[in-house]
Amino acid sequence: MGSTRVESVGVVGGGVIGMSIAAELASAGLEVIVIDPTPGRGATWAAAGMLAPAAEVAPGEEQLLADLAEAAASWPRFADRILAWGGCDVGYRATGSVLVGASASDARDVARSVAAMRATGIVVKSLRGDELADQEPSLASLRSAWLLPGDHSVDNRRLVAGLLEALKALGTRIIEDRCERIVAEPKGIRLVLERQGDVRCDACVLATGAAAAVAGTESLGLPGVRPVRGVTLRLGGLSGAPIPSRTIRAVVDASPCYLVPREDGSLVVGATSEEQGREIALAGGVHRLLDASRRVFPGIDELSFDEASVGLRPATEDHLPFVGTLRDRRVVAALGHYRNGILLAPLAAATAAGLVRRASCA
Ligand code: GLY
Repeated sequence: MGSTRVESVGVVGGGVIGMSIAAELASAGLEVIVIDPTPGRGATWAAAGMLAPAAEVAPGEEQLLADLAEAAASWPRFADRILAWGGCDVGYRATGSVLVGASASDARDVARSVAAMRATGIVVKSLRGDELADQEPSLASLRSAWLLPGDHSVDNRRLVAGLLEALKALGTRIIEDRCERIVAEPKGIRLVLERQGDVRCDACVLATGAAAAVAGTESLGLPGVRPVRGVTLRLGGLSGAPIPSRTIRAVVDASPCYLVPREDGSLVVGATSEEQGREIALAGGVHRLLDASRRVFPGIDELSFDEASVGLRPATEDHLPFVGTLRDRRVVAALGHYRNGILLAPLAAATAAGLVRRASCA
């Protein structure tokens, strides 16, 4: 495309990554079109909204730490920008998270994870049982706990609503349809939609989460992504029923679970992790989440059971995200954010937007 400047961009995928990239591009003055059959209803809708640069890193994923820390640092500004663009407060809460183990053996597992985090320079504070009881009186009596001061949360549903409002305010067109094919032509990119004809643009971004790859991307070197199902539960707070004040991450009988409180007194409990792509919640997973969370937070019995939600985490083979240009420099992919899509969204947005704008130099 010579030295032509990129002026119009089609973003395929209206999840947290696609919408964040679209907002970044639109705020820089580009004409942006987002294409998604159900914008904002992907994995982010089912998520709990943890912004966990420390606790979500599994052994072997340490090379992600620097990006996670950078993304975490950029979150306050990102939340402010979404508010400024579209007027929505996304419920960013800088409360830190507490780590606990239900049994003595679970506590030893948590202590081992804490030692691994500290070895990478992450700050983790130890809490005695009495300190935990002071700070989180709604929890079961536990001998020890740890505080991760840098692991925060956001209300994921307010976030997608806020991004949609921001996009509208920034003049972005949102097309509720499925992109069936991408055709790279000499004069631009053609996106073939299932029902609404073709969209033509100078460049495009693929942010399709765990969905199957769009036809036409086979020859572009798109990394493979597989779905990893996660089920979360939403429990409603009833007339002042006490809930934890911050995210609680627990190991219960060697399995992890988390409880993320909302300002309205409700609680999100998560999550299963299943190598499955069907969007269904199995009763066994719901039972295990309730059982595990009840062991550390017995007050769960007093909350209303409102919803079991299902999301498909998009995972690459090595569980590391890919944000880069494909063989045709006018096509940028932002994929595979796996367990950290919400946290990494502002970083993915800045990186992908930079790549799109540089495509004009091709
Ligand atoms: N980031 C939380 C989860 O993937 O369950």
